[in-house]
Amino acid sequence: MHKYFAAAIFLFVLPALTWAQNPLPIPAALSGNEINLPLQQGVMAFYPGFKTQTVGYNGPFLGPTIILDQGQQVTLNVHNQLNDTTTVHWHGLHVAPKNDGNQHNVILPGENWSPSFTVMDKAATYWYHPHPHGKTMEQVVKGAAGLIIVHDPEEAALGLPQTYGVDDIPLVFQFKTFDAGKQLVVADEADNAVLVNGVFSPVASLPAQIVRLRLLNGSSGRAFRFGFSDSRSFQQIASDAGLLDTPVSMSRLTLGPGDRAEILVDLMGLQGSTLVLKTYGNELPQGFLGGTMMMGGAIGPLDNTAFNLLSINVIAQTNNPVTSIPATLTQNMPWQEAGAGTRSFNFSAQPMMSMTNFFINGLKYNMDVINFSVVQGQTEIWTITNQTMMAHPFHVHGNPFYVLKVNNATPPANERGRKDVIMVPPMGGTVKLITRFEDFSDPDMPYIYHCHILSHEDTGMMGQFIVNPAPSSSSNNPMLGHVRIFPTLVTQGDALLQIAADPGWEVKKVEVYDLLGRRLMAVEKPSNQISTENMARGVNLVQIKTNHGIQTIKVVKN
Ligand code: C2O
Ligand code: CU
Ligand code: CU
Repeated sequence: MHKYFAAAIFLFVLPALTWAQNPLPIPAALSGNEINLPLQQGVMAFYPGFKTQTVGYNGPFLGPTIILDQGQQVTLNVHNQLNDTTTVHWHGLHVAPKNDGNQHNVILPGENWSPSFTVMDKAATYWYHPHPHGKTMEQVVKGAAGLIIVHDPEEAALGLPQTYGVDDIPLVFQFKTFDAGKQLVVADEADNAVLVNGVFSPVASLPAQIVRLRLLNGSSGRAFRFGFSDSRSFQQIASDAGLLDTPVSMSRLTLGPGDRAEILVDLMGLQGSTLVLKTYGNELPQGFLGGTMMMGGAIGPLDNTAFNLLSINVIAQTNNPVTSIPATLTQNMPWQEAGAGTRSFNFSAQPMMSMTNFFINGLKYNMDVINFSVVQGQTEIWTITNQTMMAHPFHVHGNPFYVLKVNNATPPANERGRKDVIMVPPMGGTVKLITRFEDFSDPDMPYIYHCHILSHEDTGMMGQFIVNPAPSSSSNNPMLGHVRIFPTLVTQGDALLQIAADPGWEVKKVEVYDLLGRRLMAVEKPSNQISTENMARGVNLVQIKTNHGIQTIKVVKN
C-alpha cells in the first residue's frame, strides 16, 4: 500500500530518504495490427492522502507499451478524451509526415486520429507522447507518455533477453515537480521528485541471469547519469534508434531528455542479493540540467546529487535463462559523406546568458513558416553549434541520424549507433550528424526538429522542414505531363521561361529549389512566364503546384 509515507515527509530534506519501496509496475503490453490508445484524465495517489490529477493513455498515468515487429502494418486509434486538443507523436519512428503526430496532426477534444503505416524501424526502444503546439510539456508532465518496442529478425536471432516484464524490463524515468497540494506542476526548474514507471522508489524482482533494461528519460528537462551503487559494469546494446555494433561496457550512462538506451546487466550468481540503480547528477557534465550550471550551482533541489532510482532483488533463474552476451550485434552503416549537402543550426539565447529564452538560427518556431526544404533521397550533414550556457538535446522527427562528431571528436562508442536525439554541449559546443531523407516526402506536411527540453520546445526552440519528392524521370521531359516549361536549358545569361498547362490545370504556385533543397524563389499565382534570374547555376528543381497536384521539372541554367 502506501509504504512511502516517510517519503512524503522527508522528500524536501534529502532524496535518499525517500527510500521506502513500491513494487515496480510493468506497463501493459499491446501488440497486433490495431491498437487503441484513448487519452484520458485520471487521478493517482502518488502521496498518501492526496489525489493528483493526471492524464494517461488507456489508464490514469503513462500508457501501455506498444510492441511492434518490423515490417508489420499497424493502425493506432487515438481517441482524445481530454477537454483540450492533443496530438500523439511516435518519437523515433520512421513514418511519413502525415503519420508523425507532430503539432500539425491535431486531434480535437472528442475526436479520433487513426494513422496507419508499415513499421520500417530497426529493433530499438522508442516512445510516444503528445506534441500539441505550445502544450507538449503540460500533457507530458501530467503523465501522457508510453514506450514503443520494435523487434526485427536480426535482433531476434541474437538470443537477447526479450520476455517482456521478466528479463526484458521497460523503465520510464521522469523527474517531476509536485506542489504543496501534490499536484503536478509545469515548471522544470523546480523538479523535486522522480517517478519510475509512475511510482516512487520502486523495487523489481529480477532473475539471476542476463537481464535487459530499456531506459527512457521521459523527463521534461533533466538528464540522468545512470550507474549501479557498486559501480558494476553493464553492457549497452542499443542507443535510441537501433542496436550498437557490439555491446559497449560501461559503468555510467548519461541520457538526456527524450533519449533511450538498452543495457544488459549480468545478475548470474547473485540470487538473494540486492542491487541499486542510481543516478549520479553530481557527475553530469557542467551545463547539463540535473547537474551544475556553467555559472556553478544547481537549479533544482535534486540537481548535482546522487540518489537511488530502482532497487533490484535478485530471484531464482527462469527456465531457459539467457546466460551469455553476443559479441557482435549489428553492423551500422552511416551514409556516405561524399556528395552530402551541408546545413548548420545555431542555438542562441536572448539575452546571451538567458537560461529560458532560446532560438535556432536566430528564430523562434512559427507554425506557418517552413524553415527549409530538402529533396527525398538526399543525404545531409548537419552541424549544430550551441552558443548558450546549457546543453540542449537536439531531436529530429522522421529520419534517424548518425553522430559524426561531438566537439570535433569522434563520439563515444555508445553514441555511434542510429539515433534521433543528441545532447549538444554548451558554450560553443558542436555536434555534427549525418542523416538521409528516405522513403517519405510530402510537399504540404513538414517534419519537425527541436530541443527536447519541453519548456524550450514549447517556447519555440524548434523548426520545421519539408521533404520534397525527388523529380521523377518522366517529369524531366517538359513535353510530358500536364504542365510544361520551355526552355529547360538556358545556355547563356538569363531567360524568361514559358509555363503552359493543359485545359483544366491551373498553376497555383511555382517554387524553385537547388539540389540541396534550398528554396531559391517562390511565386504565387505566376503569370505564364518566370525569370531564371534568381535560379542557381546548374540544376534547378522547379516545383509547380497545380489544382491537381504537384509536378517537378528540372531546369538547367549554365
Ligand atoms: Cu519526442 Cu518532437 O518529440
Ligand atoms: Cu520525435
Ligand atoms: Cu533546450
